[in-house]
Amino acid sequence: MNEKVTIATLGRMKEQGEKIAVITAYDAGFARLCEAAGADVILVGDSLGMVVQGHESTLPVSVAEMVYHSAMVKRGCSRPFIIADMPFMSHGTPAQALDSAGRLMKEGGAHMVKIEGGEPQVETVRHLTRRAVPVCAHLGLLPQSIHQLGGYKVQGREPHSAEAILKDACQLEEAGAQMLVLECVPELLAREISATVSIPVIGIGAGPGCDGQVLVLHDILGITPGRTPSFSQDFMQEAGSIEGAIRAYVDAVHQGRFPTAEQSFQ
Ligand code: KIV
Repeated sequence: MNEKVTIATLGRMKEQGEKIAVITAYDAGFARLCEAAGADVILVGDSLGMVVQGHESTLPVSVAEMVYHSAMVKRGCSRPFIIADMPFMSHGTPAQALDSAGRLMKEGGAHMVKIEGGEPQVETVRHLTRRAVPVCAHLGLLPQSIHQLGGYKVQGREPHSAEAILKDACQLEEAGAQMLVLECVPELLAREISATVSIPVIGIGAGPGCDGQVLVLHDILGITPGRTPSFSQDFMQEAGSIEGAIRAYVDAVHQGRFPTAEQSFQ
């Protein structure tokens, strides 16, 4: 329990069918609470643009801001594996991506970087992973593409789009990605992808068939402005304290009690 979580730990958890609990955090204080609650992975998500900075989308977040928040998270915890998001326009070319990822790892202390996108990112993922940058891919709903998508909608409901997401997952794994986040895709598709690739698949709005789950901290605490997304849960309502809510989420993921069909899409 106290050993540092590494990518090898996460791979073993997938092999052994142990669910991986991932939570976002953006500063040292919350990173400490997430570690104390037993989170395996902390994601310094560019969701901070919305839940911390108050923007309408994640698009305005800069590499410098991601470095700033990642470094705070790094100082607040020692056991969890830390993934930092590559923000919008930080990975337009493989060379730019390497530069951004280098900053997130060297200055921000991240153990891995996460990149949104499928086939167009394959070359970039290969470029990074061949240069010792561990990469988590991100498929399904891509918040950085919100203006192309026209809204935060479930992806992969049509047979051709489901097939494309599965194909992208395989290509990204082949290019060296060592983890995959699947956001807002039908439960059956997520289950199929998790069974097909050998890397850990972490779902959000992707049902209980993934190898693990990630939620945005502010959703868990019920403090996201507006409505809590249907695939999320306000754990504060029952827990009554911040520590209790984070622990209730982590325990529910580890014990396979979250997510359920209620938080899934068909
Ligand atoms: O930015 C973020 O927090 C994310 C998760 C929603 C997966 O990418």
